[in-house]
Amino acid sequence: MKGKILVTGGAGFIGSHTAVELQNAGYEVIIIDDLSNSSEDMIDGIERITGKRPVFEKLDCNDMEGLKKLFETHKGINGIIHFAASKAVGESVQKPLLYYKNNLLSLINLLELMPQYNIPNIVFSSSCTVYGEPDKNPIDETAPVKPAESPYGNTKQINEEIIRDTVKSGAPIKSIILRYFNPIGAHPSAEIGELPNGVPQNLIPYITQTAMGIREQLSVFGDDYNTPDGSCVRDFINVVDLAKAHVVALDRMLENKSDDKVEIFNLGTGNGVSVLQLINTFEKVTGVKLNYKIVGRRAGDIEKIWAEPYKANHVLGWTAKESLDDTLASAWKWQLKLREKGIM
Ligand code: WQD
Repeated sequence: MKGKILVTGGAGFIGSHTAVELQNAGYEVIIIDDLSNSSEDMIDGIERITGKRPVFEKLDCNDMEGLKKLFETHKGINGIIHFAASKAVGESVQKPLLYYKNNLLSLINLLELMPQYNIPNIVFSSSCTVYGEPDKNPIDETAPVKPAESPYGNTKQINEEIIRDTVKSGAPIKSIILRYFNPIGAHPSAEIGELPNGVPQNLIPYITQTAMGIREQLSVFGDDYNTPDGSCVRDFINVVDLAKAHVVALDRMLENKSDDKVEIFNLGTGNGVSVLQLINTFEKVTGVKLNYKIVGRRAGDIEKIWAEPYKANHVLGWTAKESLDDTLASAWKWQLKLREKGIM
């Protein structure tokens, strides 16, 4: 085994895909998840893909005693990938205290316990949300962090500061902060994918559920932005590509490839794609005509943001490979599988 890795929130969308890639790379994986926005079925899916069932414990990272018990039971953990967090931008505006409590305390608990159990490395799941509305695109890691547009985005900014301050204080911890752009798609096997509880907040699951007839119609939030076709522009990155970046980041820390104790990388393709372009691509790839209408803007939306991936490509040594066509095809294949299984 290359090492033993704790994946918090590992039953979730990005966490489950990362668990697969960690196992493929020879890591032993322990998953904790409170299952508040995920299902243990995802653990079954991971096992069907890799043939290895990760250790799974239902646990909330806010449960300090539970974490201590976990670290007592599973000795010799070499690193943590921390995904567990509440992540709906809109919901965070309605319930800010839930977001601050959950997203900040869970990280603080882990950072407090890491030195006690000799766990030196943590990869933190951050977001391009920390940049706010960029002054220019593509955006690189030196861009200023602007006042967050939502409590969700603010928790990501504060979490990054908590990590930096903890490391600066001399704690025996190294961290790599990964700022995701827009993760989409599903594992090509369609054994795991994005499965939001209730009405999807994010674009792709809403598109695939509309195409499946589960949702009546997709609302496109605004076509009066200062963009080529008026709809917002994003950097949509394949979730398997994104998962692989976490393995590269862990390898980098375990092999001590950098003297920096905190590093930040933007994980994106470098291509800006508009919402309407994405809809057209989905229709082209799947042959399904999508029922959508243009409505007013959504509060808090960024107009346009896409990554400058130079640092991730040339320092971290990772590059997004999957095309938008293949990624949207994988999202649709996953939705079809959910229907086949009678899940939705
Ligand atoms: C993308 C675009 C919407 C739904 C957020 C977080 C980010 C990450 C992903 C967690 C926007 C438009 C959407 C719909 C639409 N969070 N849209 N109709 O807001 O870019 O990013 O979620 O990992 O950190 O900031 O993602 O998918 O919600 O929206 O028109 O029904 O699609 O207006 O322009 P977003 P999104």
